[in-house]
Amino acid sequence: MKSLISYSLLSLASVSQLTGAIMVPFPEQEHMFITGKSREISTQDAPEKRLIHLSPTESKWVTEDEKLELKRQGFNFMDVTDYQHLGYENAFRTASDKKPDVKYPPKPEQQTTVKPLLEKLDKKNMRGNLEKFTSFYTRYAKSETGRQSSEWLLKRINETAAHLLPSIELKPFPHTWIQSSIIAKIPGKTKKTVVIGAHQDSINLFLPFLLAAPGSDDDGSGTVTILEAFRVLVTHLAETGEQLENTVEFHWYSAEELGLWGSQAIFSSYEKEGRDVVAMLQQDMTGFVKKTLDAGKPESVGVITDYVDPALTEFIKEVITEYCDIPYVLTQCGYACSDHASASKAGYPSAFVIESAFSDSDDHIHTTEDKIEYLSFDHMLQHAKLTLGLAYELGQAKFDDKSGYSVEL
Ligand SMILES: *[C@@H]1O[C@H](CO)[C@@H](O)[C@H](O)[C@H]1NC(C)=O
Repeated sequence: MKSLISYSLLSLASVSQLTGAIMVPFPEQEHMFITGKSREISTQDAPEKRLIHLSPTESKWVTEDEKLELKRQGFNFMDVTDYQHLGYENAFRTASDKKPDVKYPPKPEQQTTVKPLLEKLDKKNMRGNLEKFTSFYTRYAKSETGRQSSEWLLKRINETAAHLLPSIELKPFPHTWIQSSIIAKIPGKTKKTVVIGAHQDSINLFLPFLLAAPGSDDDGSGTVTILEAFRVLVTHLAETGEQLENTVEFHWYSAEELGLWGSQAIFSSYEKEGRDVVAMLQQDMTGFVKKTLDAGKPESVGVITDYVDPALTEFIKEVITEYCDIPYVLTQCGYACSDHASASKAGYPSAFVIESAFSDSDDHIHTTEDKIEYLSFDHMLQHAKLTLGLAYELGQAKFDDKSGYSVEL
């Protein structure tokens, strides 16, 4: 998640000098900031440029240092350098072979199954998982501890639930950088796929290779929120022998903080394979409510309304009303503010929910202060209820090939 908070402490020039100087003890990592001959630290070398999209119509070539500076200033972007084909098929589809809009159920209809399952969501599991997950010094996607945290998460997903159901395909999705994304696929009767996402990496925006990035809220909270929903869903399927109508996948993306790299890699491959994704919900920051409460506002789920699929977002509002104990508040976060943007670019309906109105979201993120102590597990539980409700509802929805969801008359 990107913050709108502006950090003006360090100018871009001083950051370059600082990182140049501080990179000396870490020669194996200097490629991040300086291209050219390894080990030779020279600010004369022209740094590699990356192509970023700041909006659907605004692109720019910038260095990695400039990307960090943009993030510090609160700009959202996608770094599309390695994924310039993402969305091509979608963008160049002619009107006649455009996929019809997916239609969702008008209202939730799986209450009989979902309501008792909600009781099984346990915030103690989320706390335990988050304590371990944030104990890695940083989950920066290009760091050794970022690789280790991803390996731990894979193991944790497996021992939490995936091993209970032999049909589940749980796999790392490797990248050209050190930290893998993770996909847990629960095959349904159809190949229509519902994706539930969060990002596993963290970043310290001042000195990513040097400073700690506990990333408790961003996005450790989303990571453990969807894992808890996954646990209850899979345990239910294993105990009942029930198979969902549609395929449901849980994704933990790497390198969101570098410009949505992990999710772009995954949705590029899904687009190439012609995968039929009928819905994607991203959750990035699900635990911070202090600012909302201090302002005397009601604790709510923040439903993002810009750059999302309106029909899916409508359905998510219904799911919150049905299954959560708190209301929602409509809010906006700008272009490419999290990984749902990658799904959307591939032509898949995507949506995004966050802990509060965007302006009341956690301002400790991207620093050493993104700590558990500022978070509410009661609030995360509300997001877990939404996640489980949505996954089960859309997992069981009858999507029609031509017109999406078919309403029986
Ligand atoms: C999950 O656990 C099972 C049983 O312990 C093991 O056979 C399997 O390889 C594990 N899968 C992954 C992806 O780690």
